[in-house]
Amino acid sequence: MVMLGASIDERPVGLAVLHSATAAKAAFLESIFVDPAFRRRGVGRALLEAAESMTLAAGIPKLVGSWYHDTPAAAAIERLLAGKGWGEPTPTATVYRGGRSALEQTVRKNRPWRPRPGFEIDIWSTLSPDERRQVDELGATHAIGMGLHPAGEWMLAVSEETSVVLRHHGEVAGWMLNHIVGAGLHRYSMLWIRSDLVGRGLGVSIVIESVRRHYALVDQLPRLFFHVEVHNDPMHRLIERRLGVFERYSSLLRSERSLVAGTAPSTRNVKDDRRGSGD
Ligand SMILES: CC(C)(COP(=O)(O)OP(=O)(O)OC[C@H]1O[C@@H](n2cnc3c(N)ncnc32)[C@H](O)[C@@H]1OP(=O)(O)O)[C@@H](O)C(=O)NCCC(=O)NCCS
Repeated sequence: MVMLGASIDERPVGLAVLHSATAAKAAFLESIFVDPAFRRRGVGRALLEAAESMTLAAGIPKLVGSWYHDTPAAAAIERLLAGKGWGEPTPTATVYRGGRSALEQTVRKNRPWRPRPGFEIDIWSTLSPDERRQVDELGATHAIGMGLHPAGEWMLAVSEETSVVLRHHGEVAGWMLNHIVGAGLHRYSMLWIRSDLVGRGLGVSIVIESVRRHYALVDQLPRLFFHVEVHNDPMHRLIERRLGVFERYSSLLRSERSLVAGTAPSTRNVKDDRRGSGD
């Protein structure tokens, strides 16, 4: 991770955060921010150019960024990126947000987990050291995307009391992993079930169990959110049918720029044409 700082007359005025894995195909612009008192002076553009040059110098051919369609800075970010030849923003995920009432409705709508022979659901803090090693090994032996395996979140610790593990004949076979992102803000992050167990309603069961555990701690963790990929219709339907009503949702947009000569996407005329499912 690289932090790029900008200053004017030795006063810090902006920051960009760049992240990439070794030998990655793309680096991520995690954040870009300019002090409001110093905006529209080219600082954002300079930070972006520095991030692009550093990415290219590291031998990484692409830079990717994402932001919420309804963030107050969305229009500025889109114009800034478009002006530097980034691609058309595309929605990648719907963001659901909620709080106590959505949790309470979910708990009321669904019965608690009734154990089935061979299966067990428990909270993450019950994992033994051996089982934690099993989880690591599952990452190597099963096709679990980095976004669904605990190793994929390397900055935040797992919320041990609200995340749940599914055991099948004593083996770890699935999980609903959550993270505490900020003060009182809980993210439902990673739902994974071993492929041979998919289609038996176990995924829903572990989500509901996790909500139940979270609801018990709602005073400490009153706000929650989660992302669902835009085209994951079964999951959107499941949320509508089985979970509570979420107060607000927005769309996560993504854009990228190829930094290899001759392949950069063309710039576009930017209008306020953001589409999304916001409120
Ligand atoms: C987006 C942001 C980084 C731009 O920084 P900046 O220093 O003002 O940008 P620049 O002066 O380099 O502007 C470059 C171009 O971006 C576009 N732009 C910047 N701010 C804009 C705005 N408010 N409205 C429309 N376009 C804007 C323009 O095309 C501008 O070029 P121009 O001035 O020649 O017209 C800044 O507005 C910001 O920090 N916003 C908050 C971002 C945020 O919330 N980040 C945290 C999550 S990632």
